[in-house]
Amino acid sequence: MPVVTDGKVVVVGQGYVGLPLAMRAVEAGYDVVGFEADKSRVDRLRRADSFIDDVSGGDLAEALGTGRYVPSGDAADLEGFRIAVVCVPTPLRDGMPDLHFVEDAARLLAPALTPGACVVLESTTYPGTTEEIFAPILEAGSGLRAGSDFHVGYSPERIDPSNPTWGLRNTPKIVSGVDEASGAAVAAFYGDLVDSVVRASGTREAELAKLLENTFRHVNIALVNELAIYCHELGIDVWSVIDMASTKPFGFMRFTPGPGVGGHCLPIDPSYLSWQVRRALGRTFRFVEIANDVNDNMPAYVVTRVIEHLNRGAKAVNGSRVLLVGLTYKPNTGDARESPATAVAQRLADLGAVLSAVDPHIAPHEVPAAVDLVSCDPEVLEASDIVVVLTDHDAIDWGLLNRYGDKVLDTRNRLTAPGVDRL
Ligand SMILES: NC(=O)c1ccc[n+]([C@@H]2O[C@H](COP(=O)([O-])OP(=O)(O)OC[C@H]3O[C@@H](n4cnc5c(N)ncnc54)[C@H](O)[C@@H]3O)[C@@H](O)[C@H]2O)c1
Repeated sequence: MPVVTDGKVVVVGQGYVGLPLAMRAVEAGYDVVGFEADKSRVDRLRRADSFIDDVSGGDLAEALGTGRYVPSGDAADLEGFRIAVVCVPTPLRDGMPDLHFVEDAARLLAPALTPGACVVLESTTYPGTTEEIFAPILEAGSGLRAGSDFHVGYSPERIDPSNPTWGLRNTPKIVSGVDEASGAAVAAFYGDLVDSVVRASGTREAELAKLLENTFRHVNIALVNELAIYCHELGIDVWSVIDMASTKPFGFMRFTPGPGVGGHCLPIDPSYLSWQVRRALGRTFRFVEIANDVNDNMPAYVVTRVIEHLNRGAKAVNGSRVLLVGLTYKPNTGDARESPATAVAQRLADLGAVLSAVDPHIAPHEVPAAVDLVSCDPEVLEASDIVVVLTDHDAIDWGLLNRYGDKVLDTRNRLTAPGVDRL
């Protein structure tokens, strides 16, 4: 069977992962169908109206202008694909992996599968998904055999939305296949899109490598979060401690505390790993459980610090005006999925706080119900009893906030004014 390196590419799911990939494939010269289940998203893509931070309207217009990018929700457009890449969500449901989007995508692609084509799963998932769930659905729906009739592989996405340094192209891409020929086909495709590909020995290793990367980050964030809590009680400046340790040029990697973890990855992916260890081995992945516990409790800890701060001024949370700065889960992005700011806002609202927020990136429909989105100006700051920095977007007027430093609880160590209450 020949290695496929040209022909129609289908990218299933046009979100944070799938849309940049589709853009890059168009740029590399492929004919690309951006297949998306959400009709309103398809309409927006056709109008070059982007909903993803890393892809501008101009990028979309350019791709559409080549005539080689077709946003679609019509299964007829899948016919004759040579390469299909699946970039659909892999959430948790009741704390357990929910693979129904991956299964639906495989069922969707199977009838359009032809001999020699290549199908790649990019969604983050537990080891075994590609070979035990994804490939069998493709086989059942197509009547073809994975490996002998068509190629199947796994290539985890490492995209870090809004990262100005590392993007799809210059971040090494792990590739794998269910057999040697599949691995070669997957490597050949991504070799056209990225600067370097790294061949994994198998799909399970590639799947687990992605989970290791995210679990590593999750555990280390939990470590500094717990350290921050104890440093506060010990009267030690945790930020200075981390700065000092970071001067070591080897054997240490800098992580910083915050109000918790968010996004599609850290609150979810490590639980895919611990779930599988429990299911397959009957054991507890203790590092994941501890990290979940510490990070999940950070929003409650931040609220405790708000209570302490207000208490020092003889104020109660009930009726206090609390200004939240930054609602998305990380700086310079509009991504509010699983944002710890939502949990902080909910707890404060339950305690009777009057909540407003400043966030230049968040879409209005993502703002928590109890929160009034306002602009960051002196009147708003003057009227606030406390200002809580949760996400440090560059576009926020930090100079202005510094002038009100004595009423700020800064969970990101962004302010420089004396008197700021830091995590
Ligand atoms: N966002 C990140 O930073 C990131 C980074 C690395 C890996 N990942 C992983 O990549 C995967 C996708 O994440 P995302 O952030 O792009 O999600 P997303 O929600 O931004 O996008 C997924 C898209 O897939 C669409 N979709 C769902 N089922 C579909 C179907 N059957 N057919 C067509 N479209 C369908 C959804 O409507 C949505 O637009 C997840 O497994 C995630 O863990 C995400």
